[in-house]
Amino acid sequence: MMTLPDSHEVARFRALVADRLGLHIDESRLGSLAEVLRSRVAVNGGACAAYLNRLADDRCPTEDLQALARELTVTETFFFRGADQLAAFTESALPDRLAAVGEGGIVRVLSAGCASGDEPYSLAIAVREALPYAADRVAITAFDLNQTMLEKAARGRYSSWSLRDAAANLQARWFTPEGSAFALDDAIHRAVAFHQRNLAQDDPDFWRPGQFDIVFCRNVLMYFTASQAQAAVARIARALAPGGYLFLGHAETLRGLSNDFHLCHTHDTFYYQRKEGVSATREAASQRVELWQPAAAINDTSWVDIIQRSADRIHELVPAPAPATATSVSAATRHAPDLNRVLEHLHRDQFDQALEQLDTLPAAQARDPDVLLLKAVSLSHSAALDKAEAVCREVLECDELNAGAHYVLALCREGAGDAQGAFEHDQVAVYLDPAFAMPRLHLGLLARRRGDPETAQRELQQAIALLQREDPARLLLFGGGFQREALIALCRAECAASAEHSSRRSIRC
Ligand SMILES: C[S@@+](CC[C@H](N)C(=O)[O-])C[C@H]1O[C@@H](n2cnc3c(N)ncnc32)[C@H](O)[C@@H]1O
Repeated sequence: MMTLPDSHEVARFRALVADRLGLHIDESRLGSLAEVLRSRVAVNGGACAAYLNRLADDRCPTEDLQALARELTVTETFFFRGADQLAAFTESALPDRLAAVGEGGIVRVLSAGCASGDEPYSLAIAVREALPYAADRVAITAFDLNQTMLEKAARGRYSSWSLRDAAANLQARWFTPEGSAFALDDAIHRAVAFHQRNLAQDDPDFWRPGQFDIVFCRNVLMYFTASQAQAAVARIARALAPGGYLFLGHAETLRGLSNDFHLCHTHDTFYYQRKEGVSATREAASQRVELWQPAAAINDTSWVDIIQRSADRIHELVPAPAPATATSVSAATRHAPDLNRVLEHLHRDQFDQALEQLDTLPAAQARDPDVLLLKAVSLSHSAALDKAEAVCREVLECDELNAGAHYVLALCREGAGDAQGAFEHDQVAVYLDPAFAMPRLHLGLLARRRGDPETAQRELQQAIALLQREDPARLLLFGGGFQREALIALCRAECAASAEHSSRRSIRC
């Protein structure tokens, strides 16, 4: 029996899996990856190096990639997954696209990473349930890399587990019991065209500009490396008609991946609409360096270190000055932003001084979204809420998926007496960046104020968990001058008060 491959071979295999299939294999799965490599080499015969060379070759046989996909992909899926998104599809996105393509036009829907077909078949059923008159005008295409899943889709036989979220009336209408399985209705079976395809590889013929009106790519990109996810989204953006829609899984966002979409929030769910007239660039998003990218270590050393690191991050995103004459170089030096000082002022609650410092920036740098965010935070602490809100909206104009701007907007809206607006912006911030602690904390406080102690406790407990891991630079920027421990203590106190409120209420009942 062949021994396990060595660590260099596993590292090369891991890089090839990312390159060929898009999949990110994290450190904790390297042991099972080594086992997959061992078994693939055993099946193919020959040496490990020969197998890896074949994978690295552009002419690598599709069967090799399919065999790998069968071993490494997560294929969990079920019918009517994400009812809120299906409602947004039939009640918002689809009617909008039907209107856009005009009378008699066809709306083309794609399910990318469709697994065993549950998702595209659910879309076909949802169309017939909600808009039966339009069923002939909706063409559904689906693809997956995993051939075993596609064969299951082609059989159209499902277990009761696959139908666990199907309402009884839908199950009765669209499935027929067959022993212990359920057979899909023929009309639905015929309504979806399946293909075997790799989302991690480009195919200009398939991803033609404007080819699709609505794309579902749910619970696929979360398994991809960042660069492969970015490339896949760029492909999808290219193939979506302007104004077309993209649905991702609940735990996935486009933040940091693409600037080609507007964020939509209806039916209690988030999805995206392709902007009109933009070119899908992967570079635009990849160039963004966020102030609060997770730090390697989050032990709060000293605030001086934190400020230095934050300033370094901002310096990274500020473009290098163009070659210039002696006069302008000296002018640039004189006006160069001392961002350390801005952050230091923030840390000391010296918001007016922070604003003065920011006002010395050359116009091009002053418009950078992260520098604008520093300004918005300083303004919000100086009680200049209208101005802070205007600056946040400026940030969102060029970076619509900026979670920080939505959070500061939530504070501004609350200050303006608009609790619902505050709630919505916090929700968007949480969706865009689930690791962001401050909007959770704020949602907890808002819930407590509106007399909803159960929600308050839930949000505050999540805030406590997130605060323990929150990046120090982000705490410095958004923590309102409080240290991590003080914010956690605040959450605990509010949580305890909410629990007391809740128990008093239940005693009264
Ligand atoms: C977790 S399932 C999601 C299924 C469905 N979209 C849903 O949300 O219920 C992920 C699917 O993505 C497929 N997949 C993973 N990498 C892929 C790739 N590079 N190209 C095409 N499909 C891929 C897997 O084979 C798997 O069937």
